[in-house]
Amino acid sequence: MSIAEQIQQLKKEKDAVILAHYYVPGEVQDVADYVGDSFYLSKIATTLTAKKIIFAGVAFMGESAKLLNPHKRVFLPDATADCPMAHMIDTEKIQQIRAEYPDVAVVCYINSTAETKALSDICVTSSNAVKIVKKLPNKNIFFIPDQHLASYVAAQVPEKNILLNPGFCPRHHNITASQVALAKDLHPEALFLAHPECPSEVLALADYVGSTSGIIDYATNTAAEEYLIGTVVGVFHELKKRNPHKKFFCVNSGQICVNMEKVTLEKVKSVLETECNEVFISEKLQRKAMLPLTRMLEMAR
Ligand code: 13P
Ligand code: SF4
Repeated sequence: MSIAEQIQQLKKEKDAVILAHYYVPGEVQDVADYVGDSFYLSKIATTLTAKKIIFAGVAFMGESAKLLNPHKRVFLPDATADCPMAHMIDTEKIQQIRAEYPDVAVVCYINSTAETKALSDICVTSSNAVKIVKKLPNKNIFFIPDQHLASYVAAQVPEKNILLNPGFCPRHHNITASQVALAKDLHPEALFLAHPECPSEVLALADYVGSTSGIIDYATNTAAEEYLIGTVVGVFHELKKRNPHKKFFCVNSGQICVNMEKVTLEKVKSVLETECNEVFISEKLQRKAMLPLTRMLEMAR
């Protein structure tokens, strides 16, 4: 039996469901029951009947699934797979901003720890951040931890005063405007599709800005034959699956999320067999950190 077949069998035996983000290796996406961007995966996590969730992604994704489903058991194939940006905010800064701006809404990108979520008013993902910030009654918004997504939202919602925090995703932060210009010279027919974690001068060159799902849908629903992709190469798996005759190119050779790459087929099988790497969240943290996520699900409707 192939490893993929063994995983399918184990899933049934263990009453487990596999959720996978578009950045994990293609063969892991292929064994998953649901594949998507962060927003889709958090929405779907609330609708499952299986007792166990195997989250093929990084730590904040497993934590968010657990926060939204406290009575289910959630497991990570690799417990060390973590998003560095999730840690780029210190709690004192949040307290300081709250003291300085009493009316502020702390808007927390889902790429954050449960502890940070517990100190925030609402969560957002890259696919709903603009919509939610627009709807908030507050004028002052402290958007954490990603400076680039915050700047993108600020440009789309000019009526708000968006306070920035210096966090960033190393992969997207390192995509530069000059690299995009060079890649456009090499592929003059290609449309440039970028994730809003890229710097604003890169987004200024984009034909489309959106989440991983947004990028995949845009390329699928657009007639152009060639695309330059300004996000992590994990999305190429679904892009090529849905568009076998179209061509996709990277902007630079470093568009790899090393943490998402840690999630291998062997580790998915092993976590199903051993039930190790379970996500645990204390009751107190659970109560506080779940609220911004449920608010996000309500406001994104
Ligand atoms: P999405 O919200 O597009 O899934 O992005 C998550 C992420 O980690 C981007 O780097
Ligand atoms: Fe975090 Fe960047 Fe990896 Fe997304 S691509 S999980 S933001 S390190």
